[in-house]
Amino acid sequence: MTATVPNSMTNSKAVAAATATGTAQDAARLAAPTPGVGSPGAHAAVGSMSIDNVSCFYGSHLAVADVSLEIPGRAVTAFIGPSGCGKSTLLRAINRMHEVIPGAKAVGSIKLDGVDLYTKGIDPVSVRSKVGMVFQKPNPFPAMSIKDNVLAGLIIRGARPRGSAADELVERCLTRAHLWDEVKDRLKKSGDSLSGGQQQRLCIARAIAVQPDVVLMDEPCSALDPISTLAIEELMRDLARDYTVVVVTHNMAQANRISDVTAFFSLASAGQPGRLVEAGLTTDIFSAPKVTATRDYIDGRFG
Ligand SMILES: Nc1ncnc2c1ncn2[C@@H]1O[C@H](COP(=O)(O)OP(=O)(O)OP(=O)(O)O)[C@@H](O)[C@H]1O
Ligand SMILES: [Mg+2]
Repeated sequence: MTATVPNSMTNSKAVAAATATGTAQDAARLAAPTPGVGSPGAHAAVGSMSIDNVSCFYGSHLAVADVSLEIPGRAVTAFIGPSGCGKSTLLRAINRMHEVIPGAKAVGSIKLDGVDLYTKGIDPVSVRSKVGMVFQKPNPFPAMSIKDNVLAGLIIRGARPRGSAADELVERCLTRAHLWDEVKDRLKKSGDSLSGGQQQRLCIARAIAVQPDVVLMDEPCSALDPISTLAIEELMRDLARDYTVVVVTHNMAQANRISDVTAFFSLASAGQPGRLVEAGLTTDIFSAPKVTATRDYIDGRFG
């Protein structure tokens, strides 16, 4: 029998999480509201993740080496770093999508509120409902209506809500995704009928409909215009009140604007494994990084 990820993961680790990204002072500062950036919210203890000695392989190729990182709950953590350093690979390992690629595997431990998602017997499908994913290119199901796109995760699991329960859930998720007002009169239209920015918000509504603890986003704005990008950035900050958000971005200004914690990854040269260089409160990483390579990358002096 396969185990599922418990719904009520209450192991309080937020302070420990923030501490591990920097100092004990960091923890206190992360717990306090940050003017202009938002705060991790009142439920900072829930949804924290611990990544311990994680390495990711494609066959025999080591793509990500020995990453240990604490991701605080109910906050935005940004993954930054040059192309090929393994940001997407690590992100996919976090919700056990990496292993879906033939020959790919991850070793080490990734815990959500203290529960190791790689423990033998844990059902990867239940991991993916607790740790949702939004991709670079918006990918609504074109054959499904806007409404069914929101419900898709539940439909796939054979748990489609009906009647008013479905209507309420759809309205709640679309409102949360800042999309309700734009689509409430055309819920039966195809998900494909929306603009790129609207499609991305629909994908976010779909991701949160299954009530995840964590939402992973891999360059969610890279295909969007500046206005849609701003809308998704505001949405990410808003989501962090109730979800742990991890976002990969190549946009340094965006990482600085929206994240509480920044993790910088790099690699020695093409084909070498990606490694975590440093992680800490975003204000510190951007103002006073400890490693010169981080400063160089943030200032655009990489390569
Ligand atoms: N499906 C795959 N099969 C084999 N190797 C892969 C696969 N996907 C990625 N890799 C390799 O793993 C390494 C890390 O790739 P990854 O896509 O995680 O980097 P990234 O930091 O997300 O890059 P980018 O910023 O360009 O998106 C690279 O060397 C890449 O070539
Ligand atoms: Mg990538």
